[in-house]
Amino acid sequence: MTLTLGIDIGATSIKGAAVTESGEVVGRDVQPTPSAGSSADIEDAIVACIAALRSSLPDVSSVGLAAAGWIGPDRRSVVFSANFPSWRQEPLLDRLEQRTGLAMVLENDANAAAWGEYRFGAGAAATSMAAITLGSGVGGALIVNGELVRGHQGAAGEIGHSVMITDGYPCACGRHGCMENYVSGRSINRRAAAILPGADVYELARAGDERALGCYLELGDYLGRGLANVAMLVNPQLVVISGGVSDAYDLFAEQAQRSMRSELGAYWAGLTPEFAAGTLAADAGPLGAADLARHQA
Ligand code: BGC
Ligand code: NA
Ligand code: ZN
Repeated sequence: MTLTLGIDIGATSIKGAAVTESGEVVGRDVQPTPSAGSSADIEDAIVACIAALRSSLPDVSSVGLAAAGWIGPDRRSVVFSANFPSWRQEPLLDRLEQRTGLAMVLENDANAAAWGEYRFGAGAAATSMAAITLGSGVGGALIVNGELVRGHQGAAGEIGHSVMITDGYPCACGRHGCMENYVSGRSINRRAAAILPGADVYELARAGDERALGCYLELGDYLGRGLANVAMLVNPQLVVISGGVSDAYDLFAEQAQRSMRSELGAYWAGLTPEFAAGTLAADAGPLGAADLARHQA
């Protein structure tokens, strides 16, 4: 049985999984991300994660890496990452392949998670789907007619950095008003801090507090309006929503669908896709990356 590894390099942790052809996770490892560290520190942590997995599972053929940022069209380097300031034209695969002796593929983290959900999770029955990950940042991915869309320069599907509000909140990417600033975990905390100082907005919303619930409805509203543009561009059958904020999926998803429908208007409302929460949780990224490695490394 040949295994492939999927490694998801997140802002706080590096999550690795050893995966079979049918998407079964047979080994895991987690390393803290030295996110403030140099590229070499991050590289060391990735190598440690791979070594830990291989120590008990020697039959590893290739590795898929998922990274938060714009992956270059050669799919071997990170062009730019908002979360990893040291990644600027970072030739990640060259050095990691040398150090491990394994063939690797590199994919955007949201693309990898979407691919995981498409192959083994919430999107298994779809052929065209959009995915959005609502974490500290907001990632996006498009799978159209069974193909992950990467675009001319590798940056296709960056839904989180489509502009919702002209001259809106400043974004980590250097622009203003990107969707990331209205539907991310940070955005819900920002909203809550303004009206519920010091409170845990998620706990309060679960307890039925109207103002806390209002924060999630507002997020849903923005999400639906942002996704209306995605519907116009790619007409997906399904939108899969994952990431930390999706723990509150039931508190905002209906509102998102409603606002999407109304944003699309009478003529286009029928383009409103189904919505689903991701079913693989934090495994989506490693599973997707491992599957991409199996078929493409
Ligand atoms: C980045 C994406 C990434 C997402 C989630 C965004 O800010 O632009 O490339 O997928 O964060 O990590
Ligand atoms: Na993406
Ligand atoms: Zn942005």
